[in-house]
Amino acid sequence: MAATFDFSGYAVLVTGGTRGIGRAIAGAFAGAGAEVTVTGTRADAGEYGGNLSAFAYRQARMEDAASVDALAAATARVDVLVNNAGTVIRQPEGLTPDAFERTVAVNLNAVFRLCQGLREKLAARPGCVVNIASMYSYFASPHAPGYGAGKAAIPQLTKSLAALYAGDGVRVNAIAPGWTETDLTAPIQADPDRDRVIRARTPMGRWGRPREIAGAALYLASGDIAGFVTGATIPVDGGYSAG
Ligand SMILES: NC(=O)c1ccc[n+]([C@@H]2O[C@H](COP(=O)([O-])OP(=O)(O)OC[C@H]3O[C@@H](n4cnc5c(N)ncnc54)[C@H](OP(=O)(O)O)[C@@H]3O)[C@@H](O)[C@H]2O)c1
Repeated sequence: MAATFDFSGYAVLVTGGTRGIGRAIAGAFAGAGAEVTVTGTRADAGEYGGNLSAFAYRQARMEDAASVDALAAATARVDVLVNNAGTVIRQPEGLTPDAFERTVAVNLNAVFRLCQGLREKLAARPGCVVNIASMYSYFASPHAPGYGAGKAAIPQLTKSLAALYAGDGVRVNAIAPGWTETDLTAPIQADPDRDRVIRARTPMGRWGRPREIAGAALYLASGDIAGFVTGATIPVDGGYSAG
C-alpha cells in the first residue's frame, strides 16, 4: 500500500500482528513512519521466519489474563492500539462450552482488559483504539457460536469505551471486515461450496485482501482526518453487510 498518511513518531501496538490482517495493518503503519510493535503467540519473532523484521515483537496470549496484563505493563507508550488478535474454533469442538469460553476470552475479554490496562497511557498522548469486529458481529455463527458471541460484543464495547474515554480525548472505533483471505479462513477458501456461497453473497463477488482492511485502520487512527469519529464500526466487506 502506498503511504498516504504520516504516522512518524507514533507508537503503534498491533495484537496478532504476525499474519493476515494484523500483519497488513502493522505493515501499513510502519510504511507510514510509525514505530510498530506486534504481538503473537510464539516466544520470539525469529519463530516467524523473518517476516516481522520491520517491527518490535512481544509474545502475548490473549486467553491468559496475566499475559495481557504483562503486555500492558511492558508498553511504555501507545498512540494507536489495534486489538486485532483473534481466533475461531469451529464445530464440532466449537460447540462445546470450553471452546465458547476460550474464543470469547481471546476475541472479547482480552480487548477490554488491554484497553483498560493501557487506558492511562492512551490518555497521556492522547491515543486511539481500533478494534476488529466481523460480519459475525451481525450475522449468525452456527459453526462457532463463541466466535459470533465475542465478535457481536465488539461494536457494543467500542461504543461503551468511546463514551468512557472521550473525556480523555481517546477515540475508540472498530472495523468489521468481510470475508478476507487469511489463514483464519483458509479452510473455507478451500471448500468450493462455501467459497461459492461467500462470493455469491458478497456484492463485489470476491474475498477481501488484508491490505484493504489496513486502509481503514490508517483512516480511523488519523486524528487529522478522523478526529471527530468515535464509537463507530466501519464495515470493509465488499458490500456483504449491505446485501
Ligand atoms: N479473515 C477474515 O475473513 C476475518 C473477517 C472478519 C474479522 N476477522 C478478524 O480479524 C482479526 C485477524 O484475523 P486474521 O484473519 O488475520 O487471522 P489469522 O491470519 O489467523 O491471524 C491471527 C492472529 O492472531 C494471533 N492469535 C491467534 N490466537 C491468539 C491467541 N490466543 N492469543 C494471542 N494471539 C493470538 C495470531 O498469532 P500467531 O501467528 O502467533 O498464531 C495471529 O497473529 C481477528 O480478530 C479475526 O477475528 C477476520
